[in-house]
Amino acid sequence: MLRIGEIERQWIQMANKLRVGILFGGRSGEHEVSLLSAASILKAIDRKKFDVVPIGINKAGHWLTAGAAHGLLENGGPAQPEKPLRAGDPAVTPGARVLAEGQPTLLAPEPEATAALAVAGQSALDSHAALGGQSLDVVFPVLHGTFGEDGTIQGLFELAGIAYVGGGVLGSSVGMDKDVMKRLFANAKLPIVKHVTLLRADWEKSPRKAVAQVEAALKYPVFVKPANLGSSVGISKVHNRKELGPALTLAAKYDRKLVVEQGVGGKKLKARELEVAVLGNDDPKASVVGEIIPGKEFYDYEAKYLSEGSVPVIPAKLTRAETKQIREMAVAAFKACDLSGLARVDFLMEPDGKQRIFLNEVNTMPGFTKISMYPKLWEATGIPYTELITRLIELALERHAEKSRTSYSREE
Ligand SMILES: Nc1ncnc2c1ncn2[C@@H]1O[C@H](COP(=O)(O)OP(=O)(O)O)[C@@H](O)[C@H]1O
Ligand SMILES: [Mg+2]
Repeated sequence: MLRIGEIERQWIQMANKLRVGILFGGRSGEHEVSLLSAASILKAIDRKKFDVVPIGINKAGHWLTAGAAHGLLENGGPAQPEKPLRAGDPAVTPGARVLAEGQPTLLAPEPEATAALAVAGQSALDSHAALGGQSLDVVFPVLHGTFGEDGTIQGLFELAGIAYVGGGVLGSSVGMDKDVMKRLFANAKLPIVKHVTLLRADWEKSPRKAVAQVEAALKYPVFVKPANLGSSVGISKVHNRKELGPALTLAAKYDRKLVVEQGVGGKKLKARELEVAVLGNDDPKASVVGEIIPGKEFYDYEAKYLSEGSVPVIPAKLTRAETKQIREMAVAAFKACDLSGLARVDFLMEPDGKQRIFLNEVNTMPGFTKISMYPKLWEATGIPYTELITRLIELALERHAEKSRTSYSREE
């Protein structure tokens, strides 16, 4: 029998490797968080299985690539900051280096170019050759928030006919819209807090009517939120009527739809914040339940990213029945929003009294550093970080293959 030499063996292995585009950065306020998530993934992804092409999107929305990712991580890669403040410094994250030094690139919205990365200004096929045939087999959009987690970029992947990690167009956009999400939860008979949805135009045209509408339905404290955003940006806890107007005006800066919710907990007591990681496509599974104990009055932007003192507890201290109920609700929420791949499903629990549990929201691309809640929950459930990344890529390919069975036009 012919013995395969080491070089050939390596070559065969390389030829079989999947080429994964890791997309990071983006135009949203969570740009720096994304750089941190991407730094962790670049470091941990299984290089025996995957060739990695890092693709950064800068804050102006320009796409940049730097060819092979391994060069970015020489000497184990730059030290990672714990907090996103310094993540945009090229000396700190490999993603920031791609954004500072990379060459312009685009993903062509043409299926036949099979996800060729195009050099800006060239046709997809020309630049395919120019970039040494850098086709991608699958994309992992490690993008949080607007234009990354909201279905817009997922639409581009659909046009390009490429497999991608995470929710599709519909699931991603629903997962971003707290108003539509609640309608789907309610439809699935999942418990949500009482709330009122207002249009920015309603608030601006008749503020008195808007306040009356909120006060007729809810009791203070209430939470005012822009319907489509994340990271607690534009969210206020409102303790009385005096605070309501400024909170609505603030939220109206960030979206045309505003959601006002009944506060869980009370004027003094905080809600308990429980989180579950869900993984899968048509048969999703839930992780153990985790709890975040925010260092501030609620889990605002500062508590999430800047200050110390928000403590994760895994597994959360709950009764068996509560744990079971929460995990089942997480899977039901995932299905109600037609999600795929991954989502972190967040709950609010009354800290006293009846201790009712409410579904708060789904996050379709949750923070993904090695120490973020989503990977930590899976680690505690038995799936280590590197394996989790592999599993997500496999789920992307599985969904892509499943979808390719669908006909888009009437067959003759
Ligand atoms: N109805 C509520 N009752 C109590 N706390 C809330 C409520 N809604 C939001 N919060 C607090 O605000 C934080 C951010 O709200 P959330 O809806 O999760 O928005 P984001 O999408 O920005 O994470 C929550 O983690 C929680 O601390
Ligand atoms: Mg949240």
